Amino acid sequence: MLIKIRPDQIDIPLASEITPQEVYASRRAFMGKVAAGAIAGSGLLGAGSAFAQSATARKLPAKLNSAYAVMDKPTAYQDATTYNNYYEFGTDKADPARTAGTLKTAPWTVSIEGEVKKPFTLDLDALMKLAPLEERIYRLRCVEGWSMVIPWIGYSLSALIKKAEPTGNAKYIEFVTLADKKQMPGLSDPILQWPYTEGLRMDEANHPLTLLTMGMYGEVLPNQNGAPVRVIVPWKYGFKSAKSIVRIRFVKDQPKTAWNMYAAQEYGFYSNVNPNVDHPRWSQASERRIGEDGFFARKRKTLMFNGYNDVAGLYTGMDLKKYF
Ligand code: MTE
Repeated sequence: MLIKIRPDQIDIPLASEITPQEVYASRRAFMGKVAAGAIAGSGLLGAGSAFAQSATARKLPAKLNSAYAVMDKPTAYQDATTYNNYYEFGTDKADPARTAGTLKTAPWTVSIEGEVKKPFTLDLDALMKLAPLEERIYRLRCVEGWSMVIPWIGYSLSALIKKAEPTGNAKYIEFVTLADKKQMPGLSDPILQWPYTEGLRMDEANHPLTLLTMGMYGEVLPNQNGAPVRVIVPWKYGFKSAKSIVRIRFVKDQPKTAWNMYAAQEYGFYSNVNPNVDHPRWSQASERRIGEDGFFARKRKTLMFNGYNDVAGLYTGMDLKKYF
């Protein structure tokens, strides 16, 4: 993650952090309608918006799960789909939106392998139908020091894990993503070891917050955001949320992961959002919310586990400075 941080902004509450509850409630209701397609189709978003342009064939209906919806104002669709990390499509934030059109997302299969009762393969249709799709509004915090708030669509990965019937030897889960030179211009750059892989401990993978994700903003995932299927792990830095998954492997030993192989001292296996553990080259104490980056914008304080305190019990007794 080749970034420059501007340590020039101070921590004071933002207007949106002190917005009254009623305003959040109506905002959330609005987002629910967006997700259901009611607003996208109505023209309220304006014919020129990226959302309106793509809102027809790509809709993915899902019911908002308000237990998993943060109050923060969602990031604009335009920002969430043009400021991306997807190194298979280039290292510049603007590259994936420009170049990921070559990604072929159908047909697509995900194979379930390793320490399971019986390996199997699911096509996208089967994957979509495995459990009811939900919309969840999650914060995602990148290790680079920025964050977004996105209405994702999917279901808890635990539903797929249950179907896989892992054996007693399955201690970790590994996500292997697509690596196809014909479709992905970034693969000619050996910056990371391809395919991009990520992993979670089994209890992390089974945590209800861990979302197998097929859509966002009421639609299927845009290519640059990891179509057709990715994982979202909201209490961990964004790089744990692997895009365009083709294999899910249940394994005995902690799997190797792309950024850890790139620089083990900078990117640990756990990578929980933690304002108390700095990256060796920059602070993790605060973050810039994408969309709030005007001249007067203030940085926000980064919250432990990105604010998802429910997960704290997964790490009881662990030294999170050592297991960063
Ligand atoms: N998955 C793959 N296959 N390749 C990548 O380069 N980048 C990661 C993660 N998943 C990446 C990936 C990083 S660094 C981040 S911050 C998030 O995707 C960004 O997700 P977004 O573009 O949807 O915000």
